[in-house]
Amino acid sequence: VEKALDLKAEIKRLCREKDAVILGHYYQADEIQEIADFIGDSLALAQWAAKTDAKIIVMCGVHFMGETAKILCPDKKVLIPDLNAGCSLADSCPADKFAAFVKDHPGYKVISYVNTSAAVKAVTDVVVTSTNARQIVESFPEDEKLIFGPDKNLGNYINSITGRQMLLWDGACHVHEKFSVEKIIELKKQYPDAQVLVHPECKGAVAKLADKIGSTAGLLKYAMASDKKDFIVATESGILYEMRKKCSEKNFIPAPPEDSTCACNECNFMRLNTLEKLYNTLKYEWPEVNVDEAIAQEAIKPIQKMLEISA
Ligand code: 13P
Ligand code: SF4
Repeated sequence: VEKALDLKAEIKRLCREKDAVILGHYYQADEIQEIADFIGDSLALAQWAAKTDAKIIVMCGVHFMGETAKILCPDKKVLIPDLNAGCSLADSCPADKFAAFVKDHPGYKVISYVNTSAAVKAVTDVVVTSTNARQIVESFPEDEKLIFGPDKNLGNYINSITGRQMLLWDGACHVHEKFSVEKIIELKKQYPDAQVLVHPECKGAVAKLADKIGSTAGLLKYAMASDKKDFIVATESGILYEMRKKCSEKNFIPAPPEDSTCACNECNFMRLNTLEKLYNTLKYEWPEVNVDEAIAQEAIKPIQKMLEISA
């Protein structure tokens, strides 16, 4: 415990000394969420990165989040505790294949989830997160032909609630795809009054069990406003830290993954970040996230468009 406390004090000291800000996603380990200057969902992290005055941004999340911050703040140093913190969803959409898909569909507008590489964003008209996807899709005229990538589950969900027929890329997140209908039904038997909270990256069959489908921020907001006591949560279990903090009187039960005996479903990429790595990153100002300038110049346009629409 003492060592952890020292590390936290050192991280805070280095932040002050170097004018650095720590941004963390809700899926980070508790100890990182505890020390971050700001925690939020993908949209809030991009909004924060766009407005911070700090010289250094340490993005405690995954690589595409660091890239988005770097694209928005090319003059700042953007650090990430572990460069291997990738994203299976972003990886399910290689930029060259996506660009070819876009080229094969002239006349289509391209909407990309923020969970993509900078190179995919560079061939995109507008970026979305799960918080603003519906709003942004609906900002297009109803007869506009749309491509949506890479998450097919989110895409299918948005198609179902908007009545659009967007052409979907066949990608998915390996964490959210692992939630199972059977395990949630088992939990419902134990907690019959529980509300089921589901992230739209989950499969459609799991989403059908939901009392609320929403982004991490959306699910948190719903739980805070609800007068119910028990909640079964089908998204990466890191979100439970903030849920329990904001609603200490409520009971949050993580939905387990289908293929394992563990109670929580964690993203192995998100969990690569540790306090030790965060400390070293601040100390040595490494590893740094950089984005090719030509790609960044294109990728910033759809990101800014998203920020304008969701302002
Ligand atoms: P949100 O925080 O936007 O809900 O995104 C979930 C996610 O999978 C981030 O990697
Ligand atoms: Fe990517 Fe899924 Fe991990 Fe989010 S939870 S970073 S979408 S792999």
